[in-house]
Amino acid sequence: MSAEEPWTVGRLLKWTADYLQQQKHADSPRLDAELLLAQALGCKRIELYTRFDEVVADEPRGKFRGLVKQRASGMPVAYLLGRKEFYSRDFKVTQDVLIPRPETEHLVIAALDRLREIAKSGAPQICDVGTGSGCIAITLAKELKTLQATAVDISPAALQIAQANAEKHEVADRVVFVESDLLNALDEQPTLDVIVSNPPYIGLVEKPTLPRDVLEFEPHAALFSGEDGLDAIRELVAQAPSRLKPGGWLLIEFGPIVAEAATAIVAGSPHFEPPTVEKDLAKLPRVLIARRKAD
Ligand SMILES: C[S@@+](CC[C@H](N)C(=O)[O-])C[C@H]1O[C@@H](n2cnc3c(N)ncnc32)[C@H](O)[C@@H]1O
Repeated sequence: MSAEEPWTVGRLLKWTADYLQQQKHADSPRLDAELLLAQALGCKRIELYTRFDEVVADEPRGKFRGLVKQRASGMPVAYLLGRKEFYSRDFKVTQDVLIPRPETEHLVIAALDRLREIAKSGAPQICDVGTGSGCIAITLAKELKTLQATAVDISPAALQIAQANAEKHEVADRVVFVESDLLNALDEQPTLDVIVSNPPYIGLVEKPTLPRDVLEFEPHAALFSGEDGLDAIRELVAQAPSRLKPGGWLLIEFGPIVAEAATAIVAGSPHFEPPTVEKDLAKLPRVLIARRKAD
């Protein structure tokens, strides 16, 4: 291909996908290239397919070059775009919040199964612990019109993003954001029907094994929880019973490495019925579900 050949949409995409392919951390180079070029051009990704032969002007090409450079250095696409889709809705993200993961949709589905039952006899009250971008609490509020949520996080910067997302999705009147270390800021009153949490659950011992784009770009408060990854879960299991109604539910997302130990923590609590664990699409243990014993 000659140097004079114009940089069309098609040529830029091919060159960039090949370039990103050579970078170890790009799992989906062609998709990344398309998303970044659409961002630089200010159009939808799908529109690129009808613009293949269009020559890209200097300004968007410069912007695209900047984005590709950052992607090649490991910056996740979601941070470069400033958004991530979760449960078919767009959430604003910055490096102050974890990028919502598809696995977390299992947690939302498991919570909705229980909340729909509870909603038959009144407006469900929930708490989302470690809300990050707010994706869990906001999705639950969107799916259940009567739901009232308190969403807590230890990070004020994350709470600002979550608040912006609640406003964007028009649930700010039903989701209250509170800066809190786990449930500390909530009264010890059994008012909640459900406590849902995707807490940090990676052990510091696992740090060397994490992919670079996670370790270098996502907030460590969202990832790590003590040497074994269980500090937040241990404390949450201790704090939850005094805030949950008898018969209320505790739902926690975790990863396969801590699954057994986390399940044992809940099983060892005198306040919960024996927990169950649901698997994700990869058949890995992902969501722990425990019911608070009736008094
Ligand atoms: C794994 S991220 C989950 C974010 C979001 N809920 C999601 O699923 O995408 C964990 C979140 O917990 C927050 N966090 C960590 N330790 C906490 C603590 N002790 N109390 C409250 N939030 C905490 C982090 O700031 C981060 O936003």
